[in-house]
Amino acid sequence: MRKIDMTDQLWARLLAMRGSACASAMDDGDPAVALYAPIAAAPAGFVLAQVGQSLDGRVATPSGDARDISGPDGIAHLHRCRALVEAVIVGVGTVKMDDPRLSVRAVKGPNPVRVVIDCHAELTGEERLFRDGGAPVILVQGDDAPAKSYKADILRVRPGEGGLDPHDILDALSARGLTRILVEGGARTIARFMEAGLVDRLHVAIAPLIIGSGPAGIALSPIERLSSACRPEARVYALGSDILFDCALKPSDRSASRESQDVRVADHA
Ligand SMILES: NC(=O)c1ccc[n+]([C@@H]2O[C@H](COP(=O)([O-])OP(=O)(O)OC[C@H]3O[C@@H](n4cnc5c(N)ncnc54)[C@H](OP(=O)(O)O)[C@@H]3O)[C@@H](O)[C@H]2O)c1
Repeated sequence: MRKIDMTDQLWARLLAMRGSACASAMDDGDPAVALYAPIAAAPAGFVLAQVGQSLDGRVATPSGDARDISGPDGIAHLHRCRALVEAVIVGVGTVKMDDPRLSVRAVKGPNPVRVVIDCHAELTGEERLFRDGGAPVILVQGDDAPAKSYKADILRVRPGEGGLDPHDILDALSARGLTRILVEGGARTIARFMEAGLVDRLHVAIAPLIIGSGPAGIALSPIERLSSACRPEARVYALGSDILFDCALKPSDRSASRESQDVRVADHA
């Protein structure tokens, strides 16, 4: 397991790489560079999904209390990821349940554009992200959603049988210049992007608490046998308060696969 020791100087270098497509030029063997440079310098079309969960795989209590699952270093990690992308996406369920700000507060860095998938225009317009004066908000709605007034840009996407196609959502965001994306939840939203094959990397940050019951962070379609389970190549990082699994979901992400094998061999030695 590799330990992340972030310094102000290193973080400033990573922020300066944002959107530069030069990750390899900075790969100096530092675990923080290995973790964050591929996000900072990702090519257009890059999608990171992130879940912060308990030891028993929960992201909230059954009544929906989701605050403070991640420890301080897990939160700093999430905010670094927000600062390195151009837009953060959540589903309407997360906004209704958590009323999040989706801003960068735990570290220095720019706030991403906030994107909410609200297919049927369920939000009232009174939610915090419309009123906090923060980064711009984009609502992604079906083109048959009822017209309501929001302090946000509305992106209309034609719904298919299963809702809005994540490819169409990314295309619409790309047309607005938003091409490096963090999908932050909840479970159904991450699952839709994963099942569409659009997630390059999945970060699962695990905090040392046991909730016992409650929703999980990813809600993929059920499988019969473990042989069908997704077993991504993963690097493991000690963030401090939390442990992070950095999973390469796309087979083309060979650099992560190679490095993960190297790390595993080193750990056995
Ligand atoms: N710990 C974490 O990292 C983290 C982060 C964020 C949220 N959360 C937790 O996750 C929970 C909310 O998760 P959730 O799964 O209920 O809600 P969600 O994923 O935020 O939102 C789900 C809603 O969005 C719709 N939706 C998503 N993608 C869509 C698409 N492509 N087309 C049409 N509709 C789409 C879903 O429709 P369908 O029902 O038709 O799929 C559903 O109505 C909360 O408890 C929150 O605290 C945890």
